[in-house]
Amino acid sequence: MLRFLRRLFRNEGATHANKETRSVPYHVAIIMDGNGRWAAKRKLPRTAGHQAGIVALRRTIKHANEMGIGILTVYAFSTENWRRPKPEVDFLLRLPNEFLKSDLNDLHKNNVKVTMIGFMEGLPAHTRNAVSEAVGVTAKNTGMVLNFALNYGSRAEIIAAVRTLAQKAVDGQVNPAQIDEQTIANHLFTAALPDPDLLIRPSGEIRLSNFLLWQLAYTELWFTDVNWPDFNREHLEEAISAYRNRDRRFGGIKL
Ligand code: FPP
Repeated sequence: MLRFLRRLFRNEGATHANKETRSVPYHVAIIMDGNGRWAAKRKLPRTAGHQAGIVALRRTIKHANEMGIGILTVYAFSTENWRRPKPEVDFLLRLPNEFLKSDLNDLHKNNVKVTMIGFMEGLPAHTRNAVSEAVGVTAKNTGMVLNFALNYGSRAEIIAAVRTLAQKAVDGQVNPAQIDEQTIANHLFTAALPDPDLLIRPSGEIRLSNFLLWQLAYTELWFTDVNWPDFNREHLEEAISAYRNRDRRFGGIKL
């Protein structure tokens, strides 16, 4: 069964062209949750959970790429994560540097394009520099997009979009009567990306935690009890298999 699924996935190309007909979701978003609980269960410090989270991220990128997923968006640091104790915040904000230092070459070799959504200006310089370098180096790649949500929060994103639009209206550049879904979407961090087809949240929490609230309007949601550091290929295949059995009607009916 697994071999069959793998063969099926491998036949899917990560191109925009077959986005509508493909059985593998084009854009998968993941809330990488449960690192702390994974560590607590093993009587390890929370930082060990985050380190194990990097390993899970590395293998998930590889598997997603092999399966033909077009965009993988991962929630790495939220605007609410600043509420954690400073040592943990500092540690979390070093993870992109650590990960990109060890993995950027491989990502580039595999034609992965790194992008970021979130409030870049609020991040420490070392995090910004690591992400900017990765975005620059991989800018021309045409394979899977690896999109980091860093210092990202959906409500703050919507507030920023509303402020920009309100200012444009005051300046006469936008007619308020003509603001539609596309106008709003164009003012979000995700302007260049299609909405996620599938959201995965491990760790047993059944909530969105301020992640992509606008963009997830018609996304299929999949939850699992495993903590993020234990998330593996079988879980990703299970999520995709569940996705393939969903009937997406986008508010319409099946004729
Ligand atoms: C949530 O688990 C996880 C995070 C806030 C950090 C996510 C980071 C990684 C998965 C490491 C890889 C990241 C990069 C940028 C390379 P939690 O700490 O809230 O876990 P808990 O709910 O069990 O306490």
